[in-house]
Parts: sequence; C-alpha cells; structure tokens
Amino acid sequence: MALAAPTFIPARALGRDGNTPPSERITMGVVGWGMMGPGNTDAFLGQKDCQVIAACDLDKKHVEQALNKINGHYGNKDCKPYEDFREMMARQDIDAVMLAVPDHWHALTAVTAARNKKDIYGEKPLARTIAEQQAIVKAVQKNKRIWQTGSWQRSQGPFRKAAEIVRNGLIGKLTRVEVGLPSGHHDFAGTKDKMTVTEPPANLNYEFWIGPSQMEPYIEGRIHMNWRWNYNVGGGQLLDWIGHHGDIAHWGMDADNSGPLEIEAQGEFPPRDAVWNTATKYRSTLKYPNDVTMIIAGGHNDIRSGTKWIGTEGWVWVDRGGFDASNPDWFARIPEDKYKVQLYKSDNHHRNFLDCVKSRKPTITPVETAHHSAIPGHLSLISMLVGRKIQWNSKKEVIVGDADASKLLTRPYRGPWKLT
Ligand SMILES: NC(=O)c1ccc[n+]([C@@H]2O[C@H](COP(=O)([O-])OP(=O)(O)OC[C@H]3O[C@@H](n4cnc5c(N)ncnc54)[C@H](O)[C@@H]3O)[C@@H](O)[C@H]2O)c1
Repeated sequence: MALAAPTFIPARALGRDGNTPPSERITMGVVGWGMMGPGNTDAFLGQKDCQVIAACDLDKKHVEQALNKINGHYGNKDCKPYEDFREMMARQDIDAVMLAVPDHWHALTAVTAARNKKDIYGEKPLARTIAEQQAIVKAVQKNKRIWQTGSWQRSQGPFRKAAEIVRNGLIGKLTRVEVGLPSGHHDFAGTKDKMTVTEPPANLNYEFWIGPSQMEPYIEGRIHMNWRWNYNVGGGQLLDWIGHHGDIAHWGMDADNSGPLEIEAQGEFPPRDAVWNTATKYRSTLKYPNDVTMIIAGGHNDIRSGTKWIGTEGWVWVDRGGFDASNPDWFARIPEDKYKVQLYKSDNHHRNFLDCVKSRKPTITPVETAHHSAIPGHLSLISMLVGRKIQWNSKKEVIVGDADASKLLTRPYRGPWKLT
C-alpha cells in the first residue's frame, strides 16, 4: 500500500523566513513604465508585504523592461505582462494598482481600477480636466477604495513643518501665498529634434496610446515624457507641477476641501499648432476666502520656486531642498507638542499607501485632496485660454456665468472611449 506523501509547505509560504507570507501580501499591478512608473515600482518592491504580479504598458519595450526588473527582483517569473489595462484590472487576485500613465489616461485607468475594487496609487495631477477628476473622485468614493496621490512632498519633513507653521498661526493671519513653478519646456526624452510626422514604431500601440484624445499623426517629440508639452494630452508646466507646490500651498492654507473664488491668469503660448504648444510663461492671481490671495507663476522672477506663505506677522518658504522663514527660531525643530494643529505625518509615501490599504484609513493625499490641489491649475489654464477673469463656485464646482469657460471643464472623448 502506498503511503500518502506528507504535505510539504515551504517556510517561505508561511512567512517563517522573515518575510510576509504570500497570503498576507498586497498584490499589485503596475500601469505605465516610463519616467515615474519604475521609481514608484522600485519603492513598492522594497516593501516586503507587497508583491508586484502584473505590469502593463502600451510600449512592448517598456513592458519588457518592467518584467526584467520585477521578475529579476523576485527571482521568479510570476509577474505577467499586459498591453490592455482592462484585462489586467479584471484579475481578481490583484489588490492594488500603481498608475503612472500620461494625464489623458488618468481618468479611464483610475475609474476602471476603482470599479474593479482595486486600491490605487495614482499620479498627479489627478486628471487632465476637472470633469475627469470629478469622475475619479466619484468612482473611488462609491467603490470605497483607498487612494494615494503621487504628491509625495507631503511625506517629507520640511514641507510638513512649513505647512504646520502656517496652520498654527505663527506667521499671523495668512494674506498671500506664492506658488513658483517651472517655465518653458524641458526635453525629458531627448526628442526635441524629432518633430516631424513619421510612422509609429512597431513596439508602440499608438492608436491605443492616443486613447480618448483627439487623433493626431505620430510625432516622436510629443510621445514618451514630452507629451506634457502638448495640450492634446498634457497640461504644460502648470499642470505638471500644481500637484506638488500647489498641493503644499493648500496644505498650509487648510484648503484641502475648498478652492478659489476668482481666478485671473495670463500666459505666453507658442503657436497653437506647434508640437510643444503649452504655455511657456504664466501668471495667475486667485482670490480665496478670508481675503487670501494666491499667485501661481512660472517664469516670473519675483515669485520664488516652491511655496511661500505670507502673513501679518511673518512668512515661511519651502522647496525641494530649501526652507526659509522670517523668524530664525523656526529653523530649529519646533517641538510638536507646541502645536495645536499637528498635520498628518508620513515619512514614506509608498509605505503610507500600503499601511492604509491594510487599515482602510485615508492616506496622506487622498483623492479629494488631489482633486482640490489640482483645481487652481485647471482654472488658471481656463482663464488663460479664454483671456478673462473667471468666478468659481467651489461647493457646486461650477464656473459662474461664463458658458465658454465652462466648456473647458471637460473635453470631448474620441470614441470608442467614454467616461461614464
Ligand atoms: N510624482 C512625481 O514626482 C512625478 C514625476 C514624473 C511624472 N509624474 C506623473 O506620472 C505620470 C506619467 O508620467 P511619465 O513622465 O512617467 O510619462 P512617460 O511618458 O514617461 O510614461 C508613461 C508610460 O505609460 C505608458 N502608457 C500610456 N498610456 C497607457 C495606457 N493606456 N495603458 C498602459 N500604459 C500606457 C506609456 O507607453 C509610457 O511607457 C504623469 O501623470 C506625470 O504627471 C509624477
């Protein structure tokens, strides 16, 4: 009589090798392997309670690089490649997704993920239009998903400290906020000389890449990374950066659930049909409740890069690698118990997401925050495009009394794509 073989369960599967057992790991699919996707994925690969099991991109070369990286990290072949994010997101064994796709794809990928009950680490700005942002907020709330935005500056000590100084009234009554953003166009992909129409390369599904945006001929200089300099798919420096320094501005202003009342902006634009046609220089003046004025500017020397809050009794400024204040005492570490208002503390943006996936508590940059952080950028662009001051009702989220400006809250979708 043959004896039944004893069941062998490897120590790895039980977590006895010091790692989290597979049954307790957060399984993840990553979408978009360009400039930001690999960095985000690296951060998740470094977390033992997370396992990346799917990678999706429309460029075969990029998805191949993703698989090499991910499977190389785990020493197996468990991570599966996808071209179509819908197929990947239909998988029941994926808990969470990381989305690092160009802005014109944020809404469709995020809404699909939320409907498939995935928790989402999604890049800033929340979406390419305010209407798309509203659709994401609704889908995330309705499906009770955990959302973390790639506005990682909130997980850095100096940004939190600066915002806490403002929120605790150390600068007196807040009167003015200056948000200094980059200007011009930056050639991230080294494709500034590739500005003529060619056939798309065989490795890229260009028809899919254009997706819901208007179909335009393939020009390499406006695809990977440099798409952000063309309004068909991106929003220029203003929208690229509003989710960083604009997001921090709102944190200090306690404006995560409110917004401006009045917006007046001017910009300098290349010709509309230029391959890189986003504003190169811009300035917007936004009136907020309680007589607070915000200036958002790119290419204006009087506005320092980063975020500066000015009050009746002082000011504080913060940027990546920089902190400055009117009071030298504020440079020292101010004991946290001196503050009445202590802001949400996270020292690791990706870790914070995973912790919240487990606890089901809000992350440091939930979807509602991302929505409100990007709104001043979207409204400034609309004001620049219509060439006049606009009024915003931040409760109803409508532009008041301006039908033409209101049309720019959304954009037509190219079929068969629909945002429903
Ligand atoms: N948080 C940050 O500091 C930071 C920094 C850079 C970029 N970003 C954001 O990350 C996002 C991506 O920007 P990027 O610079 O990495 O762009 P990118 O062009 O370098 O990469 C995007 C990748 O997504 C792929 N892609 C496009 N549409 C897709 C789809 N429907 N399905 C699957 N793959 C698709 C492209 O082929 C490409 O590989 C943007 O929202 C950007 O604002 C954030």
